[in-house]
Amino acid sequence: MHEALRQHLELESFFTGFSLKSPKSPALNPQAPAPQNQDPTQDLVALATQITQCQECTLCSTRRHAVPGEGNPHARLMFVGEAPGATEDRQGRPFVGNAGQLLDKIIQACGLRREDVYITNILKCRPPGNRDPLPEEITQCIPYLKMQIALIAPEVIVALGAHAARTLLDKPDGIGALRGRFWSFTVSPGATPIKVMPTYHPAYLLHNYSTDNRKRVWEDMKKVMSHLGMPIPQR
Ligand code: URA
Repeated sequence: MHEALRQHLELESFFTGFSLKSPKSPALNPQAPAPQNQDPTQDLVALATQITQCQECTLCSTRRHAVPGEGNPHARLMFVGEAPGATEDRQGRPFVGNAGQLLDKIIQACGLRREDVYITNILKCRPPGNRDPLPEEITQCIPYLKMQIALIAPEVIVALGAHAARTLLDKPDGIGALRGRFWSFTVSPGATPIKVMPTYHPAYLLHNYSTDNRKRVWEDMKKVMSHLGMPIPQR
């Protein structure tokens, strides 16, 4: 299956070279019609089905539900977290527990709704006891995220926390060193580079709440909104 995903990614980058995907998708305006022949909805549904049946690593034996991700197939903005937690594992949806409620507030503070963006994780299944993802689990699972990124073609990815940021940027640094500025992620050779803004994970914010940390996340999100040409709500 990973071979099939790899081939699909190569095809995607081949088509990207011919601009099949508009670099500016309409998405933050959910009323905007999808460009003709560019609707990734069906491919995302097929991919989600594949993910729910995945048995590539041992997490399939402990999960209740795989959590493929959800949101606007034309999103200009994508959030990538670490892995589903207990609530997400029960519901099969990303960021629906306490951290998810804080993420919803961050999205709303930006003047957006959850349905306007796409939300997913590096790992699609919950590591038992919420332990850190293992390198081999990331290696097995990352083709799914790459497919999602290739299909949705967001303009900006917000990497939530150290695991998402390190994986996307291929850097060993902590989130404190990575956050606050744009990096670049290229889903496959020849594809258009996508801006990545690392910021603190909402669960980290919940456990290390301080005005300074909250302000740092807001500063990061303001840079994202500014890059997307969105008005910045005054606080
Ligand atoms: N934490 C994550 O990283 N992802 C989720 O979906 C929920 C909590």
